[in-house]
Amino acid sequence: MMAARRLTTTFATLALISVIGCAPSEGAVTAPAHGGSASGGGAAASPGAPLERSDTVGAPGIGDPAFPLDGNGGYDVGHYTLKLSYDPASKLLAGSAQIQATAVQNLSRFDLDLHGFTVSQVTVGGSEARFAREGDELVVTAPKMIVKNAPFTVTVHYSGVPDPVRNSSNLGTYGFIPTPDGSFVTSEPDGAKTWFPSNDHPSNKATYDFEITVPQGVTAIANGEQTAPPKTSGGKTTFVWREKHPMASYLATMTTGKFDVRTGTSPGGIPVYAATDPKYRDALDTLYTKTAEITDYWATVFGPYPFSSTGGVIDDFNAGYALENQTKPIYGGFTPDTGIIAHELAHQWFGDSVSVKRWQDLWLNEGFATYAEWLWSEHTGGATAEQMFRNAYADKTNAMWTYPPGKPRPEDLFNDAVYTRGALALHALRQKIGDTAFFTLIKKWTATYKYGNATTAQFIAMAEQTSGKKLGPLFDAWLYQPTRPTLG
Ligand code: ARG
Ligand code: ZN
Repeated sequence: MMAARRLTTTFATLALISVIGCAPSEGAVTAPAHGGSASGGGAAASPGAPLERSDTVGAPGIGDPAFPLDGNGGYDVGHYTLKLSYDPASKLLAGSAQIQATAVQNLSRFDLDLHGFTVSQVTVGGSEARFAREGDELVVTAPKMIVKNAPFTVTVHYSGVPDPVRNSSNLGTYGFIPTPDGSFVTSEPDGAKTWFPSNDHPSNKATYDFEITVPQGVTAIANGEQTAPPKTSGGKTTFVWREKHPMASYLATMTTGKFDVRTGTSPGGIPVYAATDPKYRDALDTLYTKTAEITDYWATVFGPYPFSSTGGVIDDFNAGYALENQTKPIYGGFTPDTGIIAHELAHQWFGDSVSVKRWQDLWLNEGFATYAEWLWSEHTGGATAEQMFRNAYADKTNAMWTYPPGKPRPEDLFNDAVYTRGALALHALRQKIGDTAFFTLIKKWTATYKYGNATTAQFIAMAEQTSGKKLGPLFDAWLYQPTRPTLG
């Protein structure tokens, strides 16, 4: 709703700039109290006129150059409480999202990311707030100015049939995907907005409470641990889950359906939750056992397991990919081999605990997770990481040599170069600095940026500092040049 947005902006510019900290007078705004449509007349400003923005309006994007509208500016979310009911028969998702945030600037208005749904009410600090829809931006006008550094709570009530992202290029379908018996929820990179209003970018991590109500007989699986046993009444069951460690929005899940579940504790003492769709019932015990064993092993290689439980879910939605949902990696429509389980569990350290600050650095997730597959192969008596490196390096005509993994195209984020050449870069680093420095670096990396965000530049700096070597040329050759590096 461009017209409403401009009107509100103009109002903010005229009326609010000089009264920071004061409550703006209600009624001065001509924008509709409840914008419900995504299209606007556009009569308020001439086309192409620069959008006026006051400095009390949160930016519509968090500042990731590759994804200009993902996430939002002006605030930082600390916690989400999602109270949602889902009915697989009607595909209706309904409920509320309560968002606890802190303003990082004075805010008269701010955005959340939300795709689809009918929003029935938004409150800020308990008071009803005006809102408008503009594409995938839910634009909320604060009932009174939120001052910089102030904590505030937004509650959004919404319902509708989720509309997952059906991607044009190589991402497949992602977000909240209805399945015959429930939902398959995998949101990388920016599909969280298809099921809850969010600051949908990994640079704003938050903790989560989930209260998910489904028809009796359906299981609801979210991140973290169940904080109470499921409660059934009136033919419906409510599952409560809590992820108490910071999590990127794309790693949140509420996968629902008919599931067989096995829980327990790994030999190393980590709680394990494994679940399989009835179609994959035969894989449950292997999924459980391998998840436990591999989580324990990675803790010896990468440093202590960062979360309070580990797990895995096999659902019958044929996604063609797996996703490292925090504490609950999910496998879409196939029985994973141990290499893939090793990959998704390595992501718990690389991607989930240490998260990217911008998507361009995705090789920090996928290069590490791919390299972990090679380490797992070596650990279990298969090809060594060195052999894997040599085989991949020998493939001179592979397209990854012309594709620098350190700067993937936004529409081609998950290019194989990000995975394989990213892993090759790590092995080249290991050859250059030696095993002791390399594995020291890895543990230092996961410890230093635990639960946070990091960049490639920070990795290079830590690698140089840990090894005492100048590594700029090595990283430049492996990550940023469109040519096959020579071996040093
Ligand atoms: N991070 C996932 C993995 O490497 C891939 C997810 C790709 N996302 C997508 N929408 N296809 O296991
Ligand atoms: Zn991966």
